[in-house]
Amino acid sequence: MHGMAEATSKFEVVPLTRYIGAELRGIDLREKPDEATIKAIYQAWLDHLVIVFPDQKLSQEDLVRVTGYFGEIGDLHRPPKYRPPGQARLLPGIMMISNIRENGEPIGALPDGEMMFHHDMIHAEVPSKATLLYSVEIPSTGGNTLFASGYAAYDTLDPAIRERLEGRQALHHYNYGSTQKGDNKGTEAFGECVHPVFRTHEDTGRKAVYVNRLMTVRVLDMPESESRYLLDKVIEHAEQREFVYEHVWRLGDLLLWDNRCSSHARTDFPSTERRLMLRTTVKGTVRPY
Ligand SMILES: [Fe+2]
Repeated sequence: MHGMAEATSKFEVVPLTRYIGAELRGIDLREKPDEATIKAIYQAWLDHLVIVFPDQKLSQEDLVRVTGYFGEIGDLHRPPKYRPPGQARLLPGIMMISNIRENGEPIGALPDGEMMFHHDMIHAEVPSKATLLYSVEIPSTGGNTLFASGYAAYDTLDPAIRERLEGRQALHHYNYGSTQKGDNKGTEAFGECVHPVFRTHEDTGRKAVYVNRLMTVRVLDMPESESRYLLDKVIEHAEQREFVYEHVWRLGDLLLWDNRCSSHARTDFPSTERRLMLRTTVKGTVRPY
């Protein structure tokens, strides 16, 4: 990291677990950081997979601008007819995640409860590179986000299992809005795509487990029973506590995670309390390989 002494001295990187997660302290994202600082933030993100910017006070415009530091802001993939009503109040590219209801209807996407581990947009040909989530209203308890390192899962996977999956492809399917595999909360609209079971990260060159509990249907070109067995093994392994950072939200937290090498899940929260988050994504630049 040559030439970054000045930039890195401007903020502190505090790792949150052994494998994943770091808090970046001393940055106010209402002001545009200089190029060197943006580079240092980007590197901290590659190193830690998930970065937390605590205590931010962002407008929608700020969120869009900050998203741009990591690539091109993503479009909403859910077809307009299936978008929740609160969407109309947001700038293009921002999605509202909320359980708040107006006239009995949830104003945001992915409103309630627990959500299984997944990679955002793995069901698209070029999945999102990154996702940003900013907390605007949080419940008194629950609604935590769990992040699992796909690198740690790959690096420590039982070699016998890894050999049987190396070079294989898996099919992913997702009905927008679904939070548990096979539930009836999703829309009729869906995405479906095939990607490698182990993905190579184009920035770091490292390999990561790239299947998940919510969206992965099966491994191609093998009997269904073998696919089920291997997926269960690799998913169980990938979700183990040692590889996971659990984020307990505070108001004003902005999180950025890397969808190429991490998966995430949400814990349940009281349906009587309000939760409102703003989400943006960064477009992927390559088909996973
Ligand atoms: Fe997600």
